[in-house]
Amino acid sequence: MPDTALPRRPIDGFLAWCRPGFENDCAQELAARDAALATGGYARARRDSGYVEFILADEASATRYDRALRTDALIFARQWLRLHARVDRLPATDRLAVLMPAIRATGLTFADAWIESPDSTEGRELSGLCRALNTALIVAMKRERLIAADSRWRLHLGLLDPATALVAVADVAHSAPWPGGIPRLRFPRGAPSRSTLKLEEAFFVLLDAGERERWLRPGMSAVDLGAAPGGWTWQLARRSIHVTAVDNGPMDAGLLESGLVDHRREDGFRYQPARPVDWLVCDMVEQPRRVAARIGDWLAAGWCRHAVFNLKLPMKKRYDEVMLCRERVAEAAAGAGKRLDWRARQLYHDREEVTVYATLR
Ligand SMILES: C[S@@+](CC[C@H](N)C(=O)[O-])C[C@H]1O[C@@H](n2cnc3c(N)ncnc32)[C@H](O)[C@@H]1O
Repeated sequence: MPDTALPRRPIDGFLAWCRPGFENDCAQELAARDAALATGGYARARRDSGYVEFILADEASATRYDRALRTDALIFARQWLRLHARVDRLPATDRLAVLMPAIRATGLTFADAWIESPDSTEGRELSGLCRALNTALIVAMKRERLIAADSRWRLHLGLLDPATALVAVADVAHSAPWPGGIPRLRFPRGAPSRSTLKLEEAFFVLLDAGERERWLRPGMSAVDLGAAPGGWTWQLARRSIHVTAVDNGPMDAGLLESGLVDHRREDGFRYQPARPVDWLVCDMVEQPRRVAARIGDWLAAGWCRHAVFNLKLPMKKRYDEVMLCRERVAEAAAGAGKRLDWRARQLYHDREEVTVYATLR
């Protein structure tokens, strides 16, 4: 860029924060949505950067894309934000002097403002700078009356390196309520494995507050396939839900003593419940298609009302594999004369895997 160019460049598009190493999957997913909507966009992604920029042709396309994302969330993005501008050549001494005009140019006021960096090695090194700048930013925005408690918007400044920022905006009601889209969950004392955080996060991210209250009630019943040592079972038992834990491996002794857990040393692909249960959860390390087919069997037979399951994705074409799994479960739903409600997400606590909530309507 020549020196005379403005450091601020307006953009119509999206910024997606994702797990480092999954930028291609995220870009492929954004492109697939774009193809379905005919919005004419393209992705900019760099491996291990922890983010993807998706650039659209104009504001109308971005608005159409934005609307579609409200009803069908992205799998590989922890947070997606409407991009307004890219600011290059931030001076080391007074970054806000350059950023404030770009913020004003959005024409919006904001309920809050977050300065975030990607969840990458370089990005994490910027977290101190983000915190220091964030405090000064809020002061400057208040001074210019750009902060308004009743605004529906939250400002996000994505600091990519000390001299480059992306100016982006989230609708508070339709975005992750955590910086970087990362829920900081504390490991619960007494839980038998770290996997417990996956199911806890899944309940937070894939269900809304009303659904959690209605669908996770004391006295309900569940089956946990591939349960040992019991992190997922623990999440259900702590909600006073009765669990049949299916696994040839040993379960945590404390869980078995709770009186809420029945351990069956059986094959999770063959096990059938004696009567229908409220929940099926499944964390078996197996081919994703095989897991999806079994979940389809359970839902179509009415053996469970709700299912949460993990799809392990050691392959290259991870987005395609998840779509194929969705197709498998949708076919089972159609066979039962029902429609599938499918919510898949790569959670913060997921590694090479995604977690799915599914039910039939
Ligand atoms: C990732 S671990 C599950 C961890 C568990 N969700 C937790 O929170 O502690 C996978 C488990 O699946 C079990 N598993 C794999 N194949 C299975 C099968 N066919 N039937 C039952 N369990 C199986 C393994 O024995 C292992 O304990």
